[in-house]
Amino acid sequence: MSDGADVRVEGVTRTFRVPGGVPVEVLRGVDLRVAAGESVAVTGPSGSGKTTLLQLIGALDAPDAGEVRVNGRALDALDEAERLRFRNREVGFVFQAHHLLPQLNALENVLVPVWASGVDDRLRERAAHLLGRVGLGDRMTRFPGQLSGGERQRVAVARALVMEPGLVLADEPTGALDQAAAQALVDLLLDLNREERATLIVVTHSELCAQRMGRRVELKGGTVKPAACGVEIID
Ligand SMILES: Nc1ncnc2c1ncn2[C@@H]1O[C@H](COP(=O)(O)OP(=O)(O)OP(=O)(O)O)[C@@H](O)[C@H]1O
Ligand SMILES: [Mg+2]
Repeated sequence: MSDGADVRVEGVTRTFRVPGGVPVEVLRGVDLRVAAGESVAVTGPSGSGKTTLLQLIGALDAPDAGEVRVNGRALDALDEAERLRFRNREVGFVFQAHHLLPQLNALENVLVPVWASGVDDRLRERAAHLLGRVGLGDRMTRFPGQLSGGERQRVAVARALVMEPGLVLADEPTGALDQAAAQALVDLLLDLNREERATLIVVTHSELCAQRMGRRVELKGGTVKPAACGVEIID
């Protein structure tokens, strides 16, 4: 059983520099607190830094200034082994690009995060259960090349959840899905959020998805603000 993660983002800035180009100041002092067990939608225009923010919270990238703390631990203080453990055991990522391994079938792809700790019957059952929950119970032995884009996305969601992470970071999880599949996926994420107390941070352009989260913030101009209708905005 996971224990929901408490996330604190304080004064985080991130600027990208590409050789020969103008530096892109993406985050200009983001403050965001997400309490254990909360569900939060992060919205904002394309290019506003939503993926960048998720990558900082998941320790896939480091801020130029400011701090990200998860359960009180500053991520920049983790050594490489701790960082790997954090990403593998405590965070479930659903990426915009889902990166399934083409030579593994759906069930095997879901089990990839389990390899480090060893696959046991309970986790194998959980993997199969999660594939069932995303509507792929009858496609578990298909390879990614034999699945549609939306089906591959759903495999990636099951993979993100298999380790019972305390923190789920989802980047446009419903992007490739029709309305029914999108609803089912949001249901699954929210069920996990409730049943396992997993903290859920979802980046989304979908109103439908954003409205179903407990709270909503908006990234705008490099900071976070409460969004309209009781929503907090990151500006
Ligand atoms: N590694 C990088 N190097 C240089 N620039 C980058 C890098 N990553 C992101 N950027 C730039 O930072 C800005 C924010 O990117 P980001 O991917 O966080 O946006 P986003 O809000 O997730 O957009 P979308 O809704 O289109 O996914 C963009 O202008 C992007 O081009
Ligand atoms: Mg993005």
